[in-house]
Amino acid sequence: MKFSASTLLLSAQAAAAALNNGTNPSEVPYYGLSPPVYPAPVGNGTSDRSWAKAYKKAKALTAQFTLEEKMNVTNGFEGLCVGNTGAVPRFGIPSLCFADAPDGVRGQEFVSAFPAGLHLAATFNKDLMYKYGKALGEEYYGKGIHVALGPSAGPMGRVMRGGRNWEGLSPDPSLAAVAMGAITRGIQDSGVIATAKHWLLNEQEARRRPSVDESTPERRVTDEAISSNADDRTIHELYAFPFMNALKEGAGSVMCSYQRANHSYACQNSKLMNGILKTQLGFEGFVVSDWRGQRSGVASANAGLDVVMPDHGFWGEKLVEAVNNGSVSEERMTDMATRVLATWYYLEQENNFPETTYRSYSTVGDPVNVQADHSDLIREIGAAGTVLVKNVNKTLPLKDVKMVSVYGYDATVPQSPWQNPNRYGGGYEVNFGWNTFNGTLVTGGGSGISTPPYVVSPFHAISDRIAKNKGTIRWDFYSEAPGPHYVNTEACLVFINGYASESFDRVSLTDEFSDNLVINVASMCPNTIVTMHHTGARTVDAWIDHPNVTAVIYGGLPGQESGNSLADVLFGDVNPTGKLPFTIAKKEEDYGELLNSTNSKDFFPEANFTEGLYIDYRYFDKKNITPLYEFGFGLSYTTFGFSNLETAVKADVNMDEFPDPEIDIIQGGHPELWDVVATVKAHVENTGDVDGAEIAQLYIGVPGDDTPARQLRGFERVGPLVPGQNHRAVFELTRRDLSTWDVEAQQWRFRRGTYKVYVGSSSRKLPLEGTITIE
Ligand SMILES: *[C@@H]1O[C@H](CO)[C@@H](O)[C@H](O)[C@H]1NC(C)=O
Ligand SMILES: *[C@@H]1O[C@H](CO)[C@@H](O)[C@H](O)[C@H]1NC(C)=O
Ligand SMILES: *[C@@H]1O[C@H](CO)[C@@H](O)[C@H](O)[C@H]1NC(C)=O
Ligand SMILES: *[C@@H]1O[C@H](CO)[C@@H](O)[C@H](O)[C@H]1NC(C)=O
Ligand SMILES: *[C@@H]1O[C@H](CO)[C@@H](O)[C@H](O)[C@H]1NC(C)=O
Ligand SMILES: *[C@@H]1O[C@H](CO)[C@@H](O)[C@H](O)[C@H]1NC(C)=O
Ligand SMILES: *[C@@H]1O[C@H](CO)[C@@H](O)[C@H](O)[C@H]1NC(C)=O
Ligand SMILES: *[C@@H]1O[C@H](CO)[C@@H](O)[C@H](O)[C@H]1NC(C)=O
Ligand SMILES: *[C@@H]1O[C@H](CO)[C@@H](O)[C@H](O)[C@H]1NC(C)=O
Ligand SMILES: *[C@@H]1O[C@H](CO)[C@@H](O)[C@H](O)[C@H]1NC(C)=O
Repeated sequence: MKFSASTLLLSAQAAAAALNNGTNPSEVPYYGLSPPVYPAPVGNGTSDRSWAKAYKKAKALTAQFTLEEKMNVTNGFEGLCVGNTGAVPRFGIPSLCFADAPDGVRGQEFVSAFPAGLHLAATFNKDLMYKYGKALGEEYYGKGIHVALGPSAGPMGRVMRGGRNWEGLSPDPSLAAVAMGAITRGIQDSGVIATAKHWLLNEQEARRRPSVDESTPERRVTDEAISSNADDRTIHELYAFPFMNALKEGAGSVMCSYQRANHSYACQNSKLMNGILKTQLGFEGFVVSDWRGQRSGVASANAGLDVVMPDHGFWGEKLVEAVNNGSVSEERMTDMATRVLATWYYLEQENNFPETTYRSYSTVGDPVNVQADHSDLIREIGAAGTVLVKNVNKTLPLKDVKMVSVYGYDATVPQSPWQNPNRYGGGYEVNFGWNTFNGTLVTGGGSGISTPPYVVSPFHAISDRIAKNKGTIRWDFYSEAPGPHYVNTEACLVFINGYASESFDRVSLTDEFSDNLVINVASMCPNTIVTMHHTGARTVDAWIDHPNVTAVIYGGLPGQESGNSLADVLFGDVNPTGKLPFTIAKKEEDYGELLNSTNSKDFFPEANFTEGLYIDYRYFDKKNITPLYEFGFGLSYTTFGFSNLETAVKADVNMDEFPDPEIDIIQGGHPELWDVVATVKAHVENTGDVDGAEIAQLYIGVPGDDTPARQLRGFERVGPLVPGQNHRAVFELTRRDLSTWDVEAQQWRFRRGTYKVYVGSSSRKLPLEGTITIE
């Protein structure tokens, strides 16, 4: 398809007019161009005193820099670290070290492998989210890494088969937002700059980057990347929403993404960087490109990119030239360097920052051991993000079992670890779960993986328990149809997984080998307990109703302590509290258009986000499709009752329709967006017979027929409670929680009227209903 600028502009205007006119975005014929927003806002540190202090120091420095020195700070290269910035020796400014990944320092020795982001999200536990960020940050700090490349809220998981959904923090904006904020604060409390990524609309792997013909001198583009076309309201209420919390907690860095947004590459998209990020959200830090995500020199500089990783010809001396010939202002160049240095000062990295011992290309002789006692936390989060969805007649926990049989490739460590030196840097990297012979899945694939110092496999941990109980264990890790059945076995534990990686979307949410394995074991064993490790949704329609499948666990991607975390739940040391951070459909087709990534052979491929706000459970609610296991669902070994719902609107805060226009934006947006405007309270009682904690969930229905039926807006861990005990859950709702994005006013706005309030244990088990009225 060939576009002319005038047709594009007309269509964009028509689309914008229709949107402002209350038309459903799905009826808008064309998503338009990304509107120009220039010039790039100059960072000035007005957000708070720490930023102000940092900016003062940074500005004093850059005022003395030559153009070459300013350029150097913005000019990334691949060196000792995954990415490095240029140093300014004349002023003692070091080269900053950037490294992956969001779930552990990748490719190094003596580092920990934390659970993946999506696993953390399944804990619905704010305290663990902060501790995760803090411990992760300590490991980066110890290795002398200035900038951690995480956390990730993009992809959110719009497409169920998306290859990187496991790195993110769920398709629900509130859950992802709380996690983004907590992890960011944790990482930065450890003295490391957190990078919120990928900004924005990076929802699939298929064609996320252009194809380039490297044999041509000009590196001719043979195919452009996918364009994520989303309307303004969806961008604000869904995709940018989690980033706001990271910014609110001080995130010093944001990574722009590979793909296009409304046809304009994200790393040169002025609406996304100058507009939403630096103007509306008052971002004080720097924007770094995803690796080789920069597609132009002058355009990216003017659209708000601050650091290129790595430079491959667009910047460096070319950027100096562009400043000298007036294509990029010197003010812009100064701002880029100032933003980097201000962030460095903001984190106080000028004071005794550890020597960088991280090495991309070789192993250091005497590596710094940064694991500390993080294995305890990893084990705890591993168990807390383990989700029990089926448990017939209290099959679990296993009590005093003497004999179990263990089946499946996912139960054990790889036969021989598939080691790939230097693919993504580091002494080595070990891939798990790549295929049925590569063992238990504790992380996914690509740049977001962790590098476990060791792996406690499920088999290892279960063996330990059985050994302590003077029992017997039998196993077969490889057969699709194991046999014969050991008659004295009390439980058959089957382990399967669902792998995914950066660069590829999944082709299915199931696989035949694994489904056959479960059915074959179940056909001979009346007590078959299935555990899945998975990078996202894994459908189970092939066997979930099998009468011999008595318990089913979604085990996520738990990291190095995998087996211990699981055994803690299986044997009842931990009463599960994990909740599904996505919807499990009865069958794959039920995800409809949201199942597959957009595959297109066009030169300019497009993904139209026509579903707007309705992804995951919001889609199922809208289409009235009953899922197998809904978002937020997860069983405990006890049961809970909910009662005494109370709602109250605050009297002492600004309740005008719009936030006070006299108040300046700070990093994260308008400060009043975080005012608590209402509270909801409910009692949670342990109505079963063992101790346990529950994740109480609050959903709201915003007035109007253009909003999702229910949106998660709060979650609180209540307990542990002993049987019969009850405790009150208190939810605080902020102005943003009760606002929608007004496209015309370009502001968050209260909807006057009655909001529905629901409290319960999942997005569909909501026994308490009430209302909040905003007058
Ligand atoms: C706005 O809505 C009105 C009434 O639904 C309709 O007549 C008009 O054509 C719409 N305008 C645009 C630009 O879509
Ligand atoms: C996206 O929307 C545009 C304009 O409405 C349309 O031309 C294009 O075919 C759509 N692309 C896909 C993949 O649906
Ligand atoms: C994309 O286009 C839509 C419709 O015109 C608009 O609402 C939205 O803000 C645009 N987004 C970006 C990033 O350009
Ligand atoms: C600082 O930046 C904020 C946000 O862009 C803006 O509102 C404010 O006017 C700026 N202040 C100065 C002194 O430039
Ligand atoms: C630019 O950075 C490099 C690498 O850190 C450093 O060796 C060089 O001295 C710097 N140049 C200037 C002009 O400061
Ligand atoms: C200025 O320099 C840049 C970088 O070399 C170049 O891309 C651009 O075309 C130049 N602009 C003019 C007006 O010469
Ligand atoms: C659960 O246990 C009860 C009582 O022992 C039994 O009647 C029932 O059939 C069992 N249910 C299943 C699904 O096994
Ligand atoms: C593990 O997976 C990789 C990638 O598919 C493959 O090259 C390797 O052979 C596998 N290892 C085994 C033991 O099958
Ligand atoms: C359940 O297991 C028993 C063995 O205990 C077996 O006889 C039966 O056929 C199995 N049921 C199914 C539906 O496979
Ligand atoms: C999903 O995409 C694959 C190709 O990657 C295709 O074979 C399949 O038909 C698609 N499924 C649906 C439901 O669109």
